[in-house]
Amino acid sequence: MERLDKLLASQGMESRREVKKWLADGRVTVNGVPEKHPERKVSPEDVITVDGRTLTVSPHLTLMLHKPAGFVSAARDARDRTVLELVPPEYRRKELFPAGRLDKDTTGLMILTDDGALAHDILAPKKHVPKRYRVTIDLKMEERMAAGFAEGIELSDGKTKPAALLITGEHTGIVTLREGRYHQIKRMFGCFGAKVTALCRLSMGALELDPALGPGECRPLTEEELLLLKTRE
Ligand code: URA
Repeated sequence: MERLDKLLASQGMESRREVKKWLADGRVTVNGVPEKHPERKVSPEDVITVDGRTLTVSPHLTLMLHKPAGFVSAARDARDRTVLELVPPEYRRKELFPAGRLDKDTTGLMILTDDGALAHDILAPKKHVPKRYRVTIDLKMEERMAAGFAEGIELSDGKTKPAALLITGEHTGIVTLREGRYHQIKRMFGCFGAKVTALCRLSMGALELDPALGPGECRPLTEEELLLLKTRE
């Protein structure tokens, strides 16, 4: 059993405050009866409608998080704060975990989910979901770096797959990777003697970081966004 307002908000439609307005306006029914109480407890058997449309409640929750620096992308950590600590109470689920890793000092798009199959789909190396990062380095960006990235860079754990580097400024660029090794971008620039000073993930597959989401904020993915995440070129 779950609170009605929490359930509606968790389906990626609206904030809990907006959901409370829908309820007050009589737009929600439970088993055919208009329901105005946000605290009403509902179970998976209850039929809920919003504006006359029956809601298909997803058993899973998938959140988009704008990861700030200073948090580790693990479910538990003895020393550091984890990205799960950023999740507000209404979105807490026992099985929620980060689908993929970003370094502690890396910011940007992270997916948190309690859907193991979805996480596998995003992370499986064979699926090659491209990930885009905005990167700043201490040295001048040079075309030879872009050429090296395209060719593949020899790292201690083998040669990287071809990656794209689009130079956007004297020290900035956009990197697209189709794999995710430990500290990969930092190590790739390291081969040119350059140090990464800022790194932000902008997208995973066709899913972009919502610019309205401030660092540390998260919200459920909409149905369209879930599809984008699963889209392969
Ligand atoms: N590459 C890195 O070096 N760090 C990240 O967090 C992601 C990609």
